[in-house]
Amino acid sequence: MSSVTWGISANSHDAALAVFLDDTVVFASHSERFSGVKNDAHLNQALIEYALQWGQPQEVVWYEKPLKKTLRQFWAGQGLRFTENNVRVYLRSYGITAPVRFVGHHHSHAAAGYYTSNFDDATVVCIDSIGEFETLTIWEGTGDLLTQRYSQGYPHSIGLWYSAMTQRVGLKPNEDEYILMGMAAYGDPNRLFLDVLDDFIDTTGCGYCPTTKMKRNLHKGCLDWRPDLTTEQDMYDIAAATQQVYTYILHNIVAWCQTYMPSKNLVLMGGCALNCSANSDLYRFYDNVWIMPNPGDAGSAIGCVLAHKQKHIGTLNPYLGYFINKPYPVDELVQELKTSGIVGVANGAAEYGPRALGNRSLLADPRGAAIKDKVNDIKQRQRFRPFAPMILEEFADDYFTGPMNHYMQFTATCKYPEKYPAIVHADGTSRVQTVSGKNNIGVRQLLEAWYEETGCPMLLNTSLNIKGKPMVNTEADAQEFTNKYGVVVY
Ligand SMILES: [Fe+2]
Repeated sequence: MSSVTWGISANSHDAALAVFLDDTVVFASHSERFSGVKNDAHLNQALIEYALQWGQPQEVVWYEKPLKKTLRQFWAGQGLRFTENNVRVYLRSYGITAPVRFVGHHHSHAAAGYYTSNFDDATVVCIDSIGEFETLTIWEGTGDLLTQRYSQGYPHSIGLWYSAMTQRVGLKPNEDEYILMGMAAYGDPNRLFLDVLDDFIDTTGCGYCPTTKMKRNLHKGCLDWRPDLTTEQDMYDIAAATQQVYTYILHNIVAWCQTYMPSKNLVLMGGCALNCSANSDLYRFYDNVWIMPNPGDAGSAIGCVLAHKQKHIGTLNPYLGYFINKPYPVDELVQELKTSGIVGVANGAAEYGPRALGNRSLLADPRGAAIKDKVNDIKQRQRFRPFAPMILEEFADDYFTGPMNHYMQFTATCKYPEKYPAIVHADGTSRVQTVSGKNNIGVRQLLEAWYEETGCPMLLNTSLNIKGKPMVNTEADAQEFTNKYGVVVY
């Protein structure tokens, strides 16, 4: 009989739960998909009951060390939070009584990346806001051994700084960082680059050395920074400078790794690994790069179990969530795309991670100028936020130049922006999802059928969600989407 292990990341933000049968992950989902509460920090009974279909867990692995976290919070002036951080009591409140094992926050990140890569050796870089104390760690992976080589601690945190800048431009910190990244394309990075760099980053330790010190503790934000900058264009320029400074910092770290660490393979993890614009430059330093499809704290639900097991499990297939059991509706989708140009799909296992990759997607014909407004009417998003294309892998180089993969983790330059304005950002780039069929045959067949009908090998792909809510999970959620927006979902 298989042993059941649960990995849990919760009680902070973006809670998630993963189920392992022996060494195989059979289910993983963000908590929000079951509760309907976006970025839900906590577990819920619907998620737990779904996970229980694989049986009661014999062991639970928790993604960080609560005592250390409590000490840091006390040290940071956030009070003594013993009750809030009592994980065993927290889990019991959801009926989870299995023995609990604790793994370090950055160890969970590093393990999620390294053990889901196909590398026999790698340099693993984890950058986030904060774990217990750590904010930037560098690891050396050799075989199944993962060893920490460098650690930087709170309050010096690249992630906290990026979140503070997110708040400074009027967005929600810890949620809207990706919107700041999108805003950057509308700003002039040169106008405020040196101001941002000089005011926040201690460059004396920053050259070719991984240390990135902050000149101030950004845990409480930086709303007081440069009160003279108030206009909409100022916000775009701050975003552009922030993105450029982040890229500069990332370059310094990765260049140091390339020089001083032995491996030719790079794994990048932590919430900052979601910065697809900056990620594209990683290939200047490394030929082989792996970013787990869910590199933030939610991905640590898998990472903490892997840190405990210390074993490679092969490249992670991100279709691990709630399962809608019916054939992928290729003919219906193509028909609806030809008729109305836009259609929803909720089919198979939901994506584990922030991106819709074809199983919980709103799809559209990417050709022509009109479709962008049509999709925007439904999504009600800011004008600077582009949509992304999914494309048959073998055509990707005909349409785009630059790094691309199956998980939309990099940006590439579109060769025909005037033909496909809906899927090209203001800076001429697109966050491309290439489709090989290796891990999702349904999406592959859809694109093949679409190409056969139209001669166009790509579709616009954005997440299927009602504004302000998480991605559609169940068929009932899909019906709610149709009722609200009048878009058919198959
Ligand atoms: Fe983290």
